[in-house]
Amino acid sequence: MIERQKNSAKQKSPVEPRATSDEFSKLDATLRPQTFDEYIGQKALKKNLKVFLAAAKQRGEALEHTLFYGPPGLGKTTLATVLANELGVNLRITSGPALEKAGDLAAILTNLQPNDLLFIDEIHRLRTVVEEVLYSAMEDFAIDLVLGKGPSAKTMRLEVPRFTLVGATTKFSGLSAPLRDRFGSVFRLDFYDNAEIEKILARSAKILKVEIEPAACQKLAGCARATPRIANRLLRRMRDFADINHAGVIHSAVVEQGLRDLGVDAQGLDAHDRRILEILIRKFAGGPVGLSTLAAAASEEADTIETVIEPFLLQLGLLARTPRGRVATPAAWQFLGIDLPKDGLGI
Ligand SMILES: Nc1ncnc2c1ncn2[C@@H]1O[C@H](COP(=O)(O)OP(=O)(O)O)[C@@H](O)[C@H]1O
Ligand SMILES: [Mg+2]
Repeated sequence: MIERQKNSAKQKSPVEPRATSDEFSKLDATLRPQTFDEYIGQKALKKNLKVFLAAAKQRGEALEHTLFYGPPGLGKTTLATVLANELGVNLRITSGPALEKAGDLAAILTNLQPNDLLFIDEIHRLRTVVEEVLYSAMEDFAIDLVLGKGPSAKTMRLEVPRFTLVGATTKFSGLSAPLRDRFGSVFRLDFYDNAEIEKILARSAKILKVEIEPAACQKLAGCARATPRIANRLLRRMRDFADINHAGVIHSAVVEQGLRDLGVDAQGLDAHDRRILEILIRKFAGGPVGLSTLAAAASEEADTIETVIEPFLLQLGLLARTPRGRVATPAAWQFLGIDLPKDGLGI
């Protein structure tokens, strides 16, 4: 029997890969790469980032403000961790919604050490009052604070140390132009290919001290929605199945049965994904239908559809965005086993 860390993983269903609040849970932290070498995939991004990092280090300067965007679970937060480690600086972590007042941001900024890295997750959700303070901090490394209220109010300019802002967002279009313009570099994270997801699974299995057969690893990789977080989550569930029924080894049969039990299909689509496609086809004859109408019909938030569910469906070619709205492609009809209308799609 393999020795293994007992963990207290939250028993979260993999059909809920939406939450971002668990990102700093212990388990995610143990699986999170700490260096560029451990960070698998995103080759082009890594190559550029390494150059900028080496240049900043050589000059002894803070790295330029950097923005990462892309669907959840692709490794944005991880990149912030890696950057701080590689630069040998402190990482301060906060998020857009957590900064309620200008003073909250001011308190963080004034406590930074020179060259520190400030990570703001979900940066598109910053309040305007906070965002305005951030502008001058990013550009001039100073903030203007208003003291008091009414006619007797005074402004005071405070210097802050030279720092690097690393922003992450799932919704690039949600950022105001002035904020976007203040980032020295902007990187989009891509979905991972199967070989990369396999590597991530193999690495995680090692850390979790669970044995996974190569064929099982390959099968699981194909169902991970091309997303590292989902790959890791599926791996943990398979480990549970293996522990209880299969003497602790994840082989192909465990993965097949496990995926069936979890309602994950061979393309990696889960119940949420399939439901959107089904509503699109059954209620709207395949579209085109506007995002807000689709969201209302599915009782999902438009934002969730746009930033979480849709990107992978687009990637698979099951959904298309047209000027008149969202459309299920013929592949989606086929995928769900629904006959295409005889007179063709209304696209
Ligand atoms: N490139 C990668 N290589 C290995 N593991 C990764 C990679 N990217 C992400 N992960 C794993 O996926 C999890 C989710 O990544 P995270 O950075 O939190 O995603 P995001 O911030 O984009 O939502 C991490 O805990 C990490 O274990
Ligand atoms: Mg994150």
